[in-house]
Amino acid sequence: MANKYICEQDILCGVRTAKDLNNLSELEEKHLPVITAPERVKRNQIFEVTIEVGKLRPHPNEPGHFIEWIELYSGDTFLFRVSLSGSLSFPKVTIPVKLTHAHGPLKAWGKCNLHGLWENSKEIEVEE
Ligand SMILES: [Fe+2]
Repeated sequence: MANKYICEQDILCGVRTAKDLNNLSELEEKHLPVITAPERVKRNQIFEVTIEVGKLRPHPNEPGHFIEWIELYSGDTFLFRVSLSGSLSFPKVTIPVKLTHAHGPLKAWGKCNLHGLWENSKEIEVEE
């Protein structure tokens, strides 16, 4: 998976993804949002999606360094956003979701206040 829209000199520029999912760097392990969801769902049926930043390697969760928010999309369709307060919350959310007309892989974004925006995705099959 290639990084897109990024400036290597400024970590806050663009969206970062894993360069090689089989050989993640420490920075990638700390920041990639991990999506847990069924492999297959029925259209219009509610299911739960969990997104956790720091599941692969713990991310700091302190006043000066924390995950600010987590968003989920189906393809490019926005599903939800959760704002976090740093040391008073933990970057793991579970939200019920229903896919009506949305399609495409689930795509999560997590925003670190120091290390920018990170993206991960998960394929999901939607049965009619
Ligand atoms: Fe960070």
